[in-house]
Amino acid sequence: MSKGLPQALLALGVAKTFHQGSTAIEVLRNVDLRLSAGERVAIVGRSGSGKSTLLHILAGLDTADQGRIEVGNRNMATALPNIRAEIRGAEMGFVYQNHHLLPEFTALENVAMPARIAGVRRRAAEANAAGLLKEVGLTQRANHLPNALSGGERQRVAVARALAGQPSVVLADEPTGNLDRENAAIVMAMIARLSAEKGTAFLVVTHDVSMLGKFDRVLDLADGTLVDHVEG
Ligand SMILES: Nc1ncnc2c1ncn2[C@@H]1O[C@H](COP(=O)(O)OP(=O)(O)OP(=O)(O)O)[C@@H](O)[C@H]1O
Ligand SMILES: [Mg+2]
Repeated sequence: MSKGLPQALLALGVAKTFHQGSTAIEVLRNVDLRLSAGERVAIVGRSGSGKSTLLHILAGLDTADQGRIEVGNRNMATALPNIRAEIRGAEMGFVYQNHHLLPEFTALENVAMPARIAGVRRRAAEANAAGLLKEVGLTQRANHLPNALSGGERQRVAVARALAGQPSVVLADEPTGNLDRENAAIVMAMIARLSAEKGTAFLVVTHDVSMLGKFDRVLDLADGTLVDHVEG
C-alpha cells in the first residue's frame, strides 16, 4: 500500500505498564504504527507480548501511559472517556479476543446494536445486520442468543458486529482463532472486500501463519515494540 493513501490510524510512542502489587509489567515500551485507508496489517507475537493490550489502547478501551493515537485527526490518547467512546463509535469496529456479545440479545440484535446506538432506526439497522449475518453464513442463527451458538458462530457474529457501523478502522483480536478453514476464509474474504471497496483499514492479531499472506504487512510485537515480521 502506498504511503500516499489517507491515514486511518496513527500511533506514536505508545507505552503501557501494568502494576500488580509491587511488580511493574512493562508491556508496551514504544509502539509506532501508521495504518493507511484500505490497508490490511497483521500483528503476530508470542502469548503475553501485549497484542490485546495494544488493540484495546488503540480503540480507547484502555489508556496509554504515554504516546499519541490519532483516529480521524483526533487524539484518542488524551481524550476523555466519553470522547474516546464517541470516536470509537464513529470510526472503529472492534472484535474482542473473546467475542463480548451481549448475552440477552439475539445474534441479529447484537450485530444491529452499534447502528442502533448511533441512532439508526431498528428496521434499517436490522436489515443491514441480516445482510452481514448472511455473509458470514449465519442467516439460520439470527434469532439465537449467544449461549445457543457455537464458539465459531459467536466469533462470526462478533466480526459481523464490528463491520456493521461501516467503520474506517477495524481492530480485530484473533477473529479467525476459533474458525475452521472454510469460515476463516469467509472472514478473510470480507476483510479483503471491505478494504478494497470501502477503504476500510484492518489491524488483525493472529496466531495463524497460514493467514499472513492475505495481509499487506505483518508486524511482530516483541519487547514492547512493533517490528517488521521476519518469516520463519
Ligand atoms: N489489567 C491487567 N493488569 C495487569 N497485567 C495485565 C493486565 N492486562 C494484561 N496484563 C499483562 O500484560 C501482558 C500482555 O497481555 P496481553 O493480553 O496484551 O497479551 P497478548 O499478546 O494479547 O497474549 P495472547 O496471545 O495470549 O492473547 C501479560 O503478561 C498480561 O498478564
Ligand atoms: Mg491477546
